Amino acid sequence: MYFIANWKMFGGLKSLNSLHKVKKFFNSFKKNKSIKIVYCPPNTLIRPMTKILKDSHIEVGAQNCHAHKTYGPFTGSVNSSMLKNVGAKYVIIGHSENRQNGESDKLINLKIKSALKAGLKVIFCIGETSQQKRKKITKQVLNKQIKIGLEKINDKNKVLIAYEPVWSIGSGLIPKSNELLDTIDYIKKKIKRIKVLYGGSVNPKNIAELNLVNNIDGFLIGGASQDPKKFIDIIKKTYI
Ligand code: PGA
Repeated sequence: MYFIANWKMFGGLKSLNSLHKVKKFFNSFKKNKSIKIVYCPPNTLIRPMTKILKDSHIEVGAQNCHAHKTYGPFTGSVNSSMLKNVGAKYVIIGHSENRQNGESDKLINLKIKSALKAGLKVIFCIGETSQQKRKKITKQVLNKQIKIGLEKINDKNKVLIAYEPVWSIGSGLIPKSNELLDTIDYIKKKIKRIKVLYGGSVNPKNIAELNLVNNIDGFLIGGASQDPKKFIDIIKKTYI
């Protein structure tokens, strides 16, 4: 099971103090469990975070990258090799908050390619909007995002899919268990042997319900991951 913390645009150096708690918990909890924790902080915290987590099994990732593989005149951007260089092992690509800002499937595809080339693992986000759900075109939407996003990508074993319905992100809403089971099954049939995580309003209160969906390989957790107690609670409750 994967537990991926997406801190979004939150956190300064002080926020890193909360990691000691998670590290302590995880060191005693991990035994005999195939569980992976990945923290994706803002780029400014990647390096200091890897230092704090160096003697733990917790890994660090980034939240986006530029599609260009090498250095270049792209003010304000960071490419995947630069993220790797400061200690990131993963990168989230295709998050709906970036898609809403104009990131296209084609650009996402280029970003995924450059990240894999740099040696990063990719957390590839897909999901439908509430309007698309209402129109009952969720599968068509996911199909297009997958088809273009993963076009000509061979090492899919370095890619994790995060299914995040846009309407569930930050809203407190989660899909019905049977719908989630069906959607994840659909994604797994499309891409053989892929791991599929669920993301969108995961919290300690709804984790038991989400956990009943038995084809989920982990969770991408936004808001609740900033609070170490909530994050630990989510992990603990997954194993009850
Ligand atoms: P949320 O965010 O858990 O705050 O809904 C999830 C995400 O956007 O990855």
